[in-house]
Amino acid sequence: MIQRLDFAPLDGITRSVFRRVWFRHFGGADRIFVPFFSPTHHHIVTPRDLREITREGAKDLPLVPQVMSRLAPDFLWAAEVLEDLGYREINLNLGCPSGTVTAKGKGSGFLSRPEELDAFFDQVFSSVRLPVSVKTRLGYQTPEEFPRLLEIFNRYPIACLTIHARVRPEKYKGPLHLDVFEAALRESKNPVCYNGDLQTVVGVRAFETRFPAAEAVMIGRGGVADPALFRKLQGGPPASREELQSFTQELYREYQAFYGQVGTAAQRMREVWFYLIHLFEDTERLNRPMRRFRTPGEYEAAEAAIFRELVLREDAQGVLA
Ligand SMILES: Cc1cc2nc3c(=O)[nH]c(=O)nc-3n(C[C@H](O)[C@H](O)[C@H](O)COP(=O)(O)O)c2cc1C
Repeated sequence: MIQRLDFAPLDGITRSVFRRVWFRHFGGADRIFVPFFSPTHHHIVTPRDLREITREGAKDLPLVPQVMSRLAPDFLWAAEVLEDLGYREINLNLGCPSGTVTAKGKGSGFLSRPEELDAFFDQVFSSVRLPVSVKTRLGYQTPEEFPRLLEIFNRYPIACLTIHARVRPEKYKGPLHLDVFEAALRESKNPVCYNGDLQTVVGVRAFETRFPAAEAVMIGRGGVADPALFRKLQGGPPASREELQSFTQELYREYQAFYGQVGTAAQRMREVWFYLIHLFEDTERLNRPMRRFRTPGEYEAAEAAIFRELVLREDAQGVLA
């Protein structure tokens, strides 16, 4: 049975400000993953990186930082930095499908180099002090690559293997390879967490019934579309309109304080609304101004109209369309 709910890392969305405000208003996730941090061989933490991985002002949040690297010395250096900051686990990104990342053999690009991956794990696990978990896809090109990859994963004490049940060209759309996930769950020697397309309580319960051996689920877009989803999964109430409005208003204020620019804050809010709009009915007319606004004033008007005029749904719908 599912023992843990993880909030997936969503680069550009679930960054420090979002995590803090979301946790204060809703919470319900057992762990929140920090979008990837990509160490360079210079071994310098840039102010921008530090802003994201610092635990200042977020010590009560159950954060798991994620590192993207294919070089063991860089990964081990990052693990030390993160340990010094007080983290208790570190996650390796083997899932990112972006071309600029995979061209460097990182993210899901690392899955196309199984021998190198094996050597990387060998080096990492022989000296790392923190538990290391892994977030992976089923393969670089096809799911047929997965048995070979699992053979490698099974040789190392991975704290948890989170599987996004797609391959790289599929990005985050289209049918999931649940049959391959089922085999992975059966054959993995390490605990397995499932990731992909979960967006409602009913959906998570159905998943749990079909895959009782999965230890955890990780949810990303569904948790932004319905900020109360994790709380509902823990038996709590859905989001009320007032609660959502107070959440978005505080988020907007905190983005302004963080960036020092109202325009950037409004842009960030557009990205949140890209998902959040799916918690409302008949959005066609009012989603347009939200997608297209040019000034902070237009953004504020678009949001006010949504809260004033649209009916709130029980569950988000169409998030993954
Ligand atoms: C905008 C965006 C940013 C993402 N950033 C990351 C990231 O930094 N690290 C990572 O491992 N996955 C990242 N992902 C993948 C998500 O963590 C997750 O695997 C994906 O959204 C599928 O889960 P979902 O269907 O529950 O959303 C990102 C996905 C999206 C859409």
